[in-house]
This record gives sequence, structure tokens and C-alpha cells, in this order.
Amino acid sequence: MIDSDALVDAARAAREFAIAPYSSFKVGAALLTRSGRVIGGCNVENASYGLTMCAERVALLKALSEGERDFVMIAVVADTDAPTPPCGPCRQLLWEYCGDIPVVLANLRRVAGRHQMRDLLPLPFDGRLLGG
Ligand code: THU
Repeated sequence: MIDSDALVDAARAAREFAIAPYSSFKVGAALLTRSGRVIGGCNVENASYGLTMCAERVALLKALSEGERDFVMIAVVADTDAPTPPCGPCRQLLWEYCGDIPVVLANLRRVAGRHQMRDLLPLPFDGRLLGG
């Protein structure tokens, strides 16, 4: 099983593929499955800015679309001194499909933070509220 440093390395590698011509803000993410698989993602921007897809969601949707359902950690990398945490929509999806996993935040040189999903999305709206 790989450790968080190796997952950060995978997120850095995924970031190299970022398509960010409008913001120039390249992000990479890497999701670790319980079986030890690493699935990377990068942000993909579009001229209709709102259609941009974040690195975290690209990684998650890739993983889900390949049958993965059990996740243990995600790493997010951007070229910023301060950590770049997942945006709101990404938190919603990460909570739904990954639950309370650790989110490791890093830049190109070092790990800059580590948070649990329950702290990044307190009082979540999720499927439990739809149960009736
Ligand atoms: N972005 C991500 O990919 N993940 C984040 O956690 C924050 C923001 C992307 C979206 C957009 O392409 C660019 O960064 C600037 O917002």
C-alpha cells in the first residue's frame, strides 16, 4: 500500500496534464483505493468557464466510472504556498463517494496540510436526509 507522500507524487504527476489556459492555475489530484490503486486527475477548463472540471472531480469520476467504490485518501497539488483545498462542489462529491477520508494538500515542494473530509464539509447534505 502506498503512503501519502507517494500519493502526493501521483497528484503532482497528474497536474502536469492540467488544461488551464484561462486561469493558468494547474491542479492535480490522486485518489487511493482500498485495494491500493491510484487514480489521477487534473483540472480541465473550457471556454464556457462554468463547465470547468476540477482535478478532484476528474479523479473521482474516472475512478467511479471504472468500478471503484472504496477510497482511503486523496491528495491535491497546486503551485501555491498556501494549501489549495477542494472547492465546495468537490467536497460534496468527495463526501458522498469517499466519506470521511483524509485530504492531503501539497504544493510542488512540500505537504502543506492534511484534513479530514468531515472537517472540510461540516453538517453535510447527503443521502441520509433523503431516506424518508
Ligand atoms: N481547481 C481545481 O481543479 N481544484 C481545486 O481544488 C480548486 C480549483 C481548478 C478549477 C479551475 O480550473 C482552476 O483551478 C481555477 O479555479
